[in-house]
Amino acid sequence: MKVFAFNGSPRKEWNTATLLKKALKGAESRGAETELVHLYDLNYKGCISCFSCKTIGGESYGRCAVKDDLTDIFEGIRKSGAFILGSPIYFGTVSGEMRSFMERLMFPNLTYTNPTRTLFPKKIKTGFIYTILLKSN
Ligand SMILES: Cc1cc2nc3c(=O)[nH]c(=O)nc-3n(C[C@H](O)[C@H](O)[C@H](O)COP(=O)(O)O)c2cc1C
Repeated sequence: MKVFAFNGSPRKEWNTATLLKKALKGAESRGAETELVHLYDLNYKGCISCFSCKTIGGESYGRCAVKDDLTDIFEGIRKSGAFILGSPIYFGTVSGEMRSFMERLMFPNLTYTNPTRTLFPKKIKTGFIYTILLKSN
């Protein structure tokens, strides 16, 4: 089974990356093949609201129509068994890169209905690791 981890910090060796690497080590100890992806190495932007992913019968239905460094990543996620998102908390939420990544990952996989349904082809285990500033007092 392939397990991805996505680092939403610009720092490749600090808090978020350290915890993601530990999580992947655990997965490896159970026989998983793993890959750590640093989002800040990739060239992409957030969702551009083109709605191609929502056009039923269109060639991009359920998939992001924007072709960039996330295209292969999303195909990899579809084939994987699990993935972990990791982000530092910046001003009370995830980093900008992680936010853009999540928009692109999640929006194509949701129907535009109420209630919304998933278009993702299977159940996939996911986890989220947040890191914050540690206060001593
Ligand atoms: C721009 C910026 C905003 C931050 N905002 C918060 C915050 O709102 N709350 C918090 O607890 N820590 C905040 N921090 C601290 C980081 O979340 C914390 O140091 C994190 O562990 C860094 O992760 P990294 O070592 O993987 O880069 C902020 C740091 C930066 C650079």
